[in-house]
Amino acid sequence: MARDLSRLRWPRLTQRLALRPLSLDDVDAVHAFRCLPEVVVHLSHDVLDRDQVRHRISQRIERGRPGAAEPLLGLAVEELRTGRVVGDVMLRIEPSHSIARMPTDEWEGTIGYALHPDVQGRGLAAEAAAELLVIGFGELRLRRITADAYADNIASNRVLRRIGMRHEATTRAKSLGKDGTWLDDNTWALLREEWRG
Ligand SMILES: CC(C)(COP(=O)(O)OP(=O)(O)OC[C@H]1O[C@@H](n2cnc3c(N)ncnc32)[C@H](O)[C@@H]1OP(=O)(O)O)[C@@H](O)C(=O)NCCC(=O)NCCS
Repeated sequence: MARDLSRLRWPRLTQRLALRPLSLDDVDAVHAFRCLPEVVVHLSHDVLDRDQVRHRISQRIERGRPGAAEPLLGLAVEELRTGRVVGDVMLRIEPSHSIARMPTDEWEGTIGYALHPDVQGRGLAAEAAAELLVIGFGELRLRRITADAYADNIASNRVLRRIGMRHEATTRAKSLGKDGTWLDDNTWALLREEWRG
């Protein structure tokens, strides 16, 4: 069943990365990039201090427990070569919407990611995000996975295209950006049957 996140096994290894659930031991490593203005410029939160990072990770730990009301996998991204936590990624899941008489028991997910600037530009986000699709489609059997990236977040839009997601919509002037301009938002999506594994 999709929402049973406890049956997933960790770590998930890719060519250069290990993904595993965030723990409170990751506070300093996550703070090191979530405190930087250039990292949060397109994120829904402002720069975070250590306590805010601790709170955020605690919430993610709670939401990863069996039976959580709003299930979410919050994962640390470790570089295998160094063992350093260089980023974090998330997969949030929720029941698919139904307007039929019977509710559906299908689930869908949303992915997100952030990396330390030290390691950006090496394709690591795409590697981690592709693994989220493996977890979401291959393990949790989600019906659909989406991601949102503001149009001027070039790197993130390229990551989503590179992992095979389909540009589904652009919502004009969706959010007021940190620079005071209105930002267009790109929605990317993939259905399980479109996923090439
Ligand atoms: C978005 C992010 C995760 C991308 O991570 P990354 O590992 O550096 O991404 P990649 O190295 O795979 O680069 C992605 C692509 O964008 C390109 N790119 C990166 N920065 C760019 C820039 N400023 N302008 C144009 N292209 C850029 C890369 O060349 C690459 O292109 P390619 O796929 O054609 O090779 C990273 O920039 C980040 O953490 N940003 C801050 C948090 C954030 O915005 N998260 C996403 C919210 S939607």
